[in-house]
Amino acid sequence: MKATSKSPANIAFIKYWGKADPKTRVPQNNSISMCLSDLYSLCTVEFNSKFKKDKIEFVNERIVLNKERERIIKVLDRTRNLAGIDLRAKVLTQNNFPKATGVASSASGLSGITLAACRALDLKMKGKELSKLARLASGTASRSIPNGFVEWKKGTNENSSYAKQIFPADYWRIADVVAIVSYKMKKVSSTEGHSLANTSPFQKTRLKLLKAKVKSIKQTIKNRDFSTFGQILEKEALEMHAICLTSTPSILYWSPTTIDIMKKVQSWRNQGKLESYFTIDAGPTVHLICQQNDEKKLAVRLKKIKEIEKIVINHPGSGAREINQHLF
Ligand code: PMV
Repeated sequence: MKATSKSPANIAFIKYWGKADPKTRVPQNNSISMCLSDLYSLCTVEFNSKFKKDKIEFVNERIVLNKERERIIKVLDRTRNLAGIDLRAKVLTQNNFPKATGVASSASGLSGITLAACRALDLKMKGKELSKLARLASGTASRSIPNGFVEWKKGTNENSSYAKQIFPADYWRIADVVAIVSYKMKKVSSTEGHSLANTSPFQKTRLKLLKAKVKSIKQTIKNRDFSTFGQILEKEALEMHAICLTSTPSILYWSPTTIDIMKKVQSWRNQGKLESYFTIDAGPTVHLICQQNDEKKLAVRLKKIKEIEKIVINHPGSGAREINQHLF
C-alpha cells in the first residue's frame, strides 16, 4: 500500500488572501493561478501494519516544525477515514526548492501528499473531489491538482469550493522566472496572514472589486493579451501586500532585494527594453512573468543581481500526478 506523487507549486495571478472559514479553508474570494513546470514536490506514502506510528520525513530540510508534521498527519487521518482503515504510514517528501520563502511549498507538498495517500489506499477520487480534499490541507494545494491555468472558485460552502482548469498548459507561452532571494524561513506564516486579512481597513474594498478583476484577467488570458494581463497581475500583487501591510499587526514579507527587483523590472519595462511583470506571494521571492521569447534575456539580467540565491525558469505545467519511482 504505497504510492508516489509529483506535484507542482503554483503561482497566483489573483491571490487568495483571507479565509471565509478557517477550519475548512473556504476562501473569501476566487483566485487564479498557473501550475509551475520546474518547482515541485515528490512524495511517497506507505501504509503498513508494521508501522507502530506515523513517521513523517523530509529529504534535505534543516527545520521541520511540529505543526507541519501535524498538518500531514491530518491528511493521513482524512484518507484513512475515507478508506475505513486504521494503518499507520510512512511519508517521505522532497522539494526541489526551499520551503516557506514565498514559493508555494504547502501547495505542492500537501497536494502531493493528498494524492499519494489516496492512491496508496486505492481511493480513486480525482478532479474536483481531489481538489477539495487537498484544499482541506492547504488552500493553495487545491490549485495544484488540475493542469495548466486554474481557477479556484470560492463556492458557498466546503462542498462547492474547489479548483478547476480554465485553460490547458499549452494554451499560452508565458514563463514565470522565479528569483529566490533568501533561504531563510519567513517569520509570519501564510496561515497567520490569512487570519489577519480582515483587520485591514481595505480588505472589504478589495473583496468588492475582485469579482470584476477576476473576470478581466481571465479575458486577458483567453485573448493572450500579455500587456493588459501583466498590468492587472502586478497591481493585484501590490494590492494583496497592501492588505498585509495594513493588517494589525502589520506584515512585511519583502526584503531589500525584493524591492530592488521590483524597481528594476518596472524600469526595464518603462525603457521599452524588456516586458515583464512581477508578482509576489507571502515571502520575499519574486515571480517575474514574461513571454517565453524573453525568458533567457530576463534571466541574464537577473543573474547580475548578486543577492539573488537562485533563478528558476518555469512554464505552465501539469497538476499533481502519480509516478512510479518511489522515494523509499
Ligand atoms: O499557503 P496558503 O495555502 O495558506 O496560502 C498562501 C496564499 C498566497 O500564496 C499568498 C497567495 C496565493 O493565492 O497563492
